[in-house]
Amino acid sequence: MSDYPTIPLETYQEFPVDEMRERVEEFYADVDRRRSVREFSARPVPRDIIETALKAAGTAPSGANLQPWHFVVVSGAGTKKKIRHAAEIEEREFYTHRASAEWLEALAPLGTDEHKSFLEIAPYLIAVFLQKFAALPDGRKVKHYYPTESTGIAAGMLITALHRAGLATLTHTPSPMKFLNKILGRPKSERPFLLLVVGYPADDAKVPDIERKPLEDFTSFIDS
Ligand SMILES: Cc1cc2nc3c(=O)[nH]c(=O)nc-3n(C[C@H](O)[C@H](O)[C@H](O)COP(=O)(O)O)c2cc1C
Repeated sequence: MSDYPTIPLETYQEFPVDEMRERVEEFYADVDRRRSVREFSARPVPRDIIETALKAAGTAPSGANLQPWHFVVVSGAGTKKKIRHAAEIEEREFYTHRASAEWLEALAPLGTDEHKSFLEIAPYLIAVFLQKFAALPDGRKVKHYYPTESTGIAAGMLITALHRAGLATLTHTPSPMKFLNKILGRPKSERPFLLLVVGYPADDAKVPDIERKPLEDFTSFIDS
C-alpha cells in the first residue's frame, strides 16, 4: 500500500437485490425520457438548480483525479447574442460547405440547420471546456491525463442531472467552436468541448422521431 492517506469508504451504500433492481429500472425509465430539445421557452430557471447540477458534474471520475474541465454558465442576453451570431456563422459554413454529403445525410432526420435562435431564447448556455493542461501558480504546466474521457463523463452527468431536475438540454457542437474561448475569455489551453443549451422546452416543442438501439445491438456479454 502507498503511504498516502486514506479514509474509510463511508459514502458507499449497498441495497438489497430487489431494491437494486427497482432503483436501476427507475433510473433507466427516467433517463429514457430524455430528449435533445431544439425549441426552448424563455422561462427563467433558478440559478441554484444549475449550480447543483454542476456540482453533480464535478463528482465525475477523472484521469488521475485532475478534473480537467471548466464550465462557463451564460445567462446574459449580450453574451448569448454574441454566441448565437458566431455559432450561426460556423453553422452556415458547415451546412453549405464543410459537411460531407454523408454527414448531411446522417443529420437529415434531425431537421437541423444553421438557424440557432434557441441560443438566445434558452435561459442558460453552459459552455463546457476541456483543459489540456493545468497551470500551476508558479507558471508550470501539468499535463492532464484522459481529459476527453473525463470531460465527456462530466458532461454526461451534467446532462443527466439537469434532466432529473426537469430541465431540457441540447448538446450543441457548432464546429469549430474556438469562438467560445474568445467570447468567454477562456485560455488557449482549454478546448471548447460542447455547448449545452438548458431550459424548459417550448410549449409546442417537437423532437425528431428517431429510435434508440436495443440493448442486444450495442452490448456483448462474455460469460466464460
Ligand atoms: C457530441 C454531440 C454533439 C451533438 N451536436 C449537436 C449539434 O450540434 N446540434 C444538434 O442539434 N444536436 C446535436 N447533438 C444532439 C444529437 O443530435 C442527439 O443527441 C441525437 O440525435 C439523439 O437524440 P436524443 O438526444 O433526443 O436522444 C449532439 C449530441 C452529441 C452527443
